This record gives sequence, C-alpha cells and structure tokens, in this order.
Amino acid sequence: MATAEAHATHAAGRSGLWSWITTTDHKRIGILYGVSAFVFFLIGGLEALLIRLQLARADNTLVSAEAFNQLFTMHGTTMVFLAIMPMSAAFFNYIVPLQIGARDVAFPRLNAFSYWVFLLGGLFLNASFLVWRPGSTSSSPSSTCGRPACA
Ligand code: HEM
Repeated sequence: MATAEAHATHAAGRSGLWSWITTTDHKRIGILYGVSAFVFFLIGGLEALLIRLQLARADNTLVSAEAFNQLFTMHGTTMVFLAIMPMSAAFFNYIVPLQIGARDVAFPRLNAFSYWVFLLGGLFLNASFLVWRPGSTSSSPSSTCGRPACA
C-alpha cells in the first residue's frame, strides 16, 4: 500500500465503514475479497446441505425438482465464481505487492472497482432467489425450463 494511503487516511480522520467502502489499499481490498468469499462459501455450503438432504433418501420430497436444479446451479456457481476464485484474489491482492516491494497494485482504483463489481454481481445473482429463478440466466436446461415459456 499503501503506507502513503494509510497516512493520508489517518491524517484525514477517515475510519470505520466509509474508509472500507472507499479504500484503494491492496491489503484492505484483499481482506474484503477474503471476507466476502468466505460468506459466499457458507452460502454455497448451505446449498450443498440442502442438496444432500434431498438425496439422503430415495424419492425424497424436501425440495421440488425445479428447486433442486436451482440449488445445484447456485451451489456450483457460488463455489467456483463467488468463493474459490475471489479467495485467490484475496491472497494475491494482499501478498503480491508485498512480495515485489511495490506500494500498491498497478491500478488501485480499478482494483477496488473490480471488488465492488464482484460483490454486487454476487448479491444480484443470489437476489434471483427472490423471484425463485436462481441461475436462470445460466446454461440450458435451467435457463429455459421453469419459465412460463417452457412447456
Ligand atoms: C470448490 C468448489 C466446491 C466445493 C467446496 C463444494 C463443496 C461441496 C460439499 C461440502 C458438498 C456436500 C457433500 C455431501 O454432503 O455429500 C457438495 C455437494 C455437492 N456439490 Fe459441491 N462443491 C464445489 C463445487 C461444485 C460444483 C462446481 C458442482 C457442480 C456444478 C457441485 C455439485 C455438487 C453436488 C451435485 C453435490 C451433491 C452431491 C451429493 O451429496 O450426492 N459442487 N459440494
């Protein structure tokens, strides 16, 4: 970092939530990625649990076939794109600038922007549960069935 920004942040009296929202510090962005990825990991784990409960007995009716497909899609998507990949982003954001002795990454604001795009994308994807069509923009058949048009 970021030492320069840490001093500037301290001097300006910026702290708390707002300083995390506006930060361009690679270490803080790394921490934001790590915390967010862990929360999504728990959500993906919850979906895995529901899948397992459904499969625990033959002919189980815990969730409908449509809901099972949605949970399957959301579990896979969440684990790969919202948990594992951002977790690697957490580590390389935090560690690589330190390893090479740089003050920050090459484009700190773009780096911060990437994090917020990731977080909003993840929240948006999960918000699709509110309309009960999670993952419906993913690949077929989930993308086509479960809609009124899919007879
Ligand atoms: C690194 C990423 C992933 C992690 C950490 C993960 C983790 C888990 C865990 C802990 C379970 C519960 C296992 C059990 O109780 O039997 C599970 C189940 C399952 N996962 Fe994942 N998963 C990941 C990626 C995926 C992907 C990419 C898919 C498919 C697109 C997927 C599909 C499933 C299915 C179908 C089950 C239910 C299997 C069963 O219980 O018989 N997972 N996952």
